[in-house]
Amino acid sequence: MNTAGWDVVGSITQMVHKWTPATLIGTGKVEEIGDIALECGAQFVIIDHQLSGVQTRNLEEIWKGIQVLDRAQIIIEIFSQRARSYEGKLQVELAQLLDQLPRQVGAWLGSLSRQGGGIGTRGLGETALELDRRQIRRRIDAIKRKLKDVQKTRGQHRSSREKKQIPSFALIGYTNSGKSTLMNKLTSAEVYAEDQLFATLDPTTRKIYLEEGTQSVITDTVGFINKLPHHLIEAFKATFEESASSDILLHVIDLSNPRMDKQVEVVNSLIDEFGWNDKPIVHVYNKVDVAPVQNRFKVKLHPRVFVSAHTGEGLEDLKALMADTLKTLTIEIELFIPLEKSHLVYELNRDATSLYKEESGLGIYCKAHIIPALAKKWQDYRVNGKKRGRKVLNVKESEE
Ligand code: GTP
Repeated sequence: MNTAGWDVVGSITQMVHKWTPATLIGTGKVEEIGDIALECGAQFVIIDHQLSGVQTRNLEEIWKGIQVLDRAQIIIEIFSQRARSYEGKLQVELAQLLDQLPRQVGAWLGSLSRQGGGIGTRGLGETALELDRRQIRRRIDAIKRKLKDVQKTRGQHRSSREKKQIPSFALIGYTNSGKSTLMNKLTSAEVYAEDQLFATLDPTTRKIYLEEGTQSVITDTVGFINKLPHHLIEAFKATFEESASSDILLHVIDLSNPRMDKQVEVVNSLIDEFGWNDKPIVHVYNKVDVAPVQNRFKVKLHPRVFVSAHTGEGLEDLKALMADTLKTLTIEIELFIPLEKSHLVYELNRDATSLYKEESGLGIYCKAHIIPALAKKWQDYRVNGKKRGRKVLNVKESEE
């Protein structure tokens, strides 16, 4: 709640064995919460669960003057405070409307009952309800259209990267695990980092240089959370797709968090849900500077690396692990570049994820790890044989 900028005046936990359809929680608890809220002068009651429109309406009727919000609404509220870009704002509005749609029925039934609406007013209510829903649906369609336009531009950037075969990493992880701080440290860029949930809503992509100047890109994106409401996933689909299109996932985990295991479980189940399991995943245990040492012995996932985005500890190990993981996506090729074409070595350096060079009087022998699609471009310079430098195939300028 502090993330949303509100003061929490009280908090109540209840084990619920059976839901009460009208109010979700039982009559006794409803009364107790109402009394406490009145005593503390609370303006809002937030229920960490999903509420239907009817349940919200009923609770607000009982707790007069208090606004009731559920889990999805509070997350959307935080998202709406964070959204900076045009796309982020559109996505938040879409989430709000998708959230509102099913609640409309409850709201209307509530208002009808307050007006003493019975059989005679029913038809009127339904028409007005339909009108409202139609307006919301129209707005949803309009936002989806605008989002498509914005996302087309991002898609163009992505496909130009894909065409150039620049390998990409995506930082994913539970909210507040330190993804943006890590991104800043790895790329020396300024990505917004805050001790707040969901500080990052807009995917940000930056260049990152691993071994010997090898180029790749890294994307920071919205943090995951337990029971992420489905309409939020739908509204932020494009943002999640940015991670989906990456070659390698960097799962950032807050090693200092007492709920680390639960957070890892949540992220892993979302990875499952999004179908990202076929991608290589590197587990980045962050915040070692503040995590109790014994926490390191509790971790089970591989491959892994321990880092502190704050102090910089372990970042070289992380880069090395990233480079090694890239190699698993690449093939090793051997090339001979004649002296008069030696400028091509710079280009090869950009294409390759790692490069070994050895100069001789005639040219440069290279051993490079490269994405298979890019290997074709260097076909003419590949050494025809297992032993290096024995024979050169058709030395001519590459097409690009
Ligand atoms: P979302 O945008 O909510 O997904 O958060 P995020 O994962 O991008 O986290 P962010 O980088 O905003 O960091 C969250 C908080 O953790 C900030 O207060 C950071 O300063 C802090 N933090 C990040 N890395 C470290 C670290 O290595 N050590 C310590 N002590 N704090 C860190």
